[in-house]
Amino acid sequence: MHIKACIFDLDGVIVDTAKYHFLAWKRLTDELGIPFTHEDNERLKGVSRMASLDIILELGGRSVTDKQKIEYATLKNDWYVDYITRMTPDEILPGTVKFLTELRKANIKTAIGSASKNTPMILERTGIKNLFDGIADGNNVKNAKPDPEVFQTAAKLLNVKDEYCVVFEDAVAGVQAALNAGMKSIGIGSEKILWKAHMVVPGLSEMNLEKLKLFEKAN
Ligand code: BG6
Ligand code: MG
Repeated sequence: MHIKACIFDLDGVIVDTAKYHFLAWKRLTDELGIPFTHEDNERLKGVSRMASLDIILELGGRSVTDKQKIEYATLKNDWYVDYITRMTPDEILPGTVKFLTELRKANIKTAIGSASKNTPMILERTGIKNLFDGIADGNNVKNAKPDPEVFQTAAKLLNVKDEYCVVFEDAVAGVQAALNAGMKSIGIGSEKILWKAHMVVPGLSEMNLEKLKLFEKAN
């Protein structure tokens, strides 16, 4: 393949907000008396707020009204926002700034492809908005991963064809969304979980331009 753009998921790839999502959902599930483990949480990664709540209610065998759903999702988001308003640039995951800077120097475009409606606040609090040429997130995309819409939107914003894009993802649903878009994907995390990705690295600190060029040749 030929790589013209790299699209990055936000939560769990660029910043370690996955832990805050977990804590906020855990607080809600505790209040509702629904057992909720880290393993259950894997299913929520990359999934939109309302779709995540649906999974949680299904786990607890609960059915509630739409009004209650909105109340629960608002509670969770308020707790989550409480964490992220206190974020600092220290919470940018290791290797991110170095790799993104290297890509841009090499004329490879960069974008965010995230389900989160809180993307603007996170980028603002961590001060890394200027590292991205485009932002596709929960505010300009309707369909949740594994639907490819978020990555297709990012590619359009960058004016790059889908086939020239590589997606960096920590979520099973996100890797699947990249595949559904006809893009190559590099998993961030464990091979056991992200086995569908074309390659898996533990974090962006393990990435550099040279490795990306090798990936380009091999795929
Ligand atoms: C994704 C996270 O990036 O965004 C999910 O992996 C989260 O855990 C989703 O539910 C939606 O985020 P938000 O901030 O709009 O509730
Ligand atoms: Mg993620």
